[in-house]
This record gives sequence, C-alpha cells and structure tokens, in this order.
Amino acid sequence: MDIAVIGSNMVDLISYINKMPKEGETLEAPDFKIGCGGKGANQAVAAAKMGSKVMMVTKVGDDLFADNTIRNLEEYGIDTAFSQKVPGTSSGVAPIFVDQESKNRILIIKGANAHLTPRAIDEAAEQLKKCSLIVLQLEIPLETIYYAIEFGNEYGIPVILNPAPASKELDFDYVCKCDFFVPNESELEILTDMPVETDKQIQAAASMLVEKGVKNVIVTMGSRGVMWVTKERTQSISSHRVNAIDTTGAGDAFIGCFSHVFVKTRDVLQALETATVFAALSVTKRGTQTSYPTVEEVEEFMQSSAR
Ligand code: RIB
Ligand code: NA
Repeated sequence: MDIAVIGSNMVDLISYINKMPKEGETLEAPDFKIGCGGKGANQAVAAAKMGSKVMMVTKVGDDLFADNTIRNLEEYGIDTAFSQKVPGTSSGVAPIFVDQESKNRILIIKGANAHLTPRAIDEAAEQLKKCSLIVLQLEIPLETIYYAIEFGNEYGIPVILNPAPASKELDFDYVCKCDFFVPNESELEILTDMPVETDKQIQAAASMLVEKGVKNVIVTMGSRGVMWVTKERTQSISSHRVNAIDTTGAGDAFIGCFSHVFVKTRDVLQALETATVFAALSVTKRGTQTSYPTVEEVEEFMQSSAR
C-alpha cells in the first residue's frame, strides 16, 4: 500500500447559482450536480487516479448514500476494508454553492465522519503500518488526527496534514510532528493569526510555523500558485492559466496528486509541479472528484506547457 487517507467522505450537493438568495427570498438557480466528495475521499481519489495504491479509513452513515460512497471509492481502486458504516447516523453531506465566477461556498454536515475515532486506526493498524504516507484533513475528530500523527511518528511513516477546514483548536504540538503541513492562505491566516495579503506576509506566517518545528509548510494560493517553505529555502511555484469553471475540490486534487508523486519519487519540487497541473486541470470541469484529470491528461498538459 502506498498511501493511507484517514479522513472524511461527503456527498456533495452542488448548486450552480447566479446569486445567493437574501433572507426570506426564493431564487431560481440554473443547475445542480450531486457527486461524491469530502476532503479525505477527494484526496484519496486524486492519488488513486495518478496510480497510487490507496487505502481509506473512513465512516459512512447507514443511509441511501452509504453504499454508493463505498462503491465509488472501489471504482477508483481504493481499498475500503476500513471504510465502515455507522448504524443510526447519516452520511456526511456538503451543500455547495458555486457562483458565476466559479467561486464556491461550502457547508459541511459531518454525520458519520464525526464517528471516526482513534479506534478505527487501531483496527486498521496492521495495514496502516505498510503504508508509505499518511494523509489527514480536519473533517474528522481532532483526537483521531492526533492519534494518526502519533501512529505515523511511531512507525516512521511521513504524515501530511491539510488543516481544512481551519480549526483554531488545532494543537500546534501535533502540527510540528507532521512532515508536511499544507494550508491554503485563509487557513494559514486563521491558524497563525498573521496577515496573508502579500507573498511576503504569507512567507512570514509560514516561516513562523517552520521555526516552531514544522519541516515543510506548503501554502496553496489558488491562481497565485504555491509557496513551499522550509528552514533552508522558500520556493514559489506559479499556477497555470486555465479557464476556471468550478474550483471546488482543487485543493484536495493538489494534495492527492502531491502525495502520489512524493511517494513515488521523494522529490518535493517535482511533486509540487505535477500537483499544480493536476489541480489546474480540475478547475476546468464541474464537480469535485468527477473533475479530476487522468494521468494522460496531466502528462499531455505538462508536455504542451514545456514546449
Ligand atoms: O474541498 C472540497 C470538499 O469540501 C467538498 O468535496 C466537500 O465535500 C467538502 O468536504
Ligand atoms: Na472542479
């Protein structure tokens, strides 16, 4: 097994809107799409689409979404032996609103994801020990995140933590035990209480985390690219110009693809460059997982942009 994603799955209920209704107002919106999402599952799917062997430790409800969610993961070749139903709960759902500028607003109702306790890690321990990378986000209980980080440290498995959605309660002692900490700029702002308007400010906030002990801070900034900060260096990777249709799940696309290339090559820069392409291609299509490109599309884009 290459990668273990310990995290969330959600059913994305995406409304494409012209305008957000005001209080008491009813508005018609042009389109709707339902799909499999959740930051954990999205990242797992992105890595699997790139060719990694991925296992997912996750919880679904016992509703009509559950079997579909598991089946969807399996269709991407993801190991679901530790993707389990929680009796009496609903699956996680995410009502999402995408406006005409392709900007999104997301609500999450965690449902079964809130039941992913450290016990799930104990149950999957034998399989998890064989993984080369553990990938985490914040749509499951924090105690499970901390337990997973400790697990990774104990068995010498690198850990990527994507602090999304941002939580002020996140304990920095654990953040420092991760190999990669990957916030977007607004998450970085919430977590550090520092301004993130300019590249300089972003670098200062990321450097503060590095000084506290995080090995690699990777800040994703959408169309402004990515900044990778370590003790020794700061490196910026610019993004690719694409026709943005729907940016939902682009951050997850980035993390899943990064994880794949990092496990295969241990080359962070190469992983960042490939992930930037993968994420850019994902915003040219509607939806989250359904918008993720194939390996061939990624390679073709990289060849044409190198010319
Ligand atoms: O990052 C995008 C994801 O956030 C969506 O798929 C939604 O389910 C929420 O988890
Ligand atoms: Na998309």
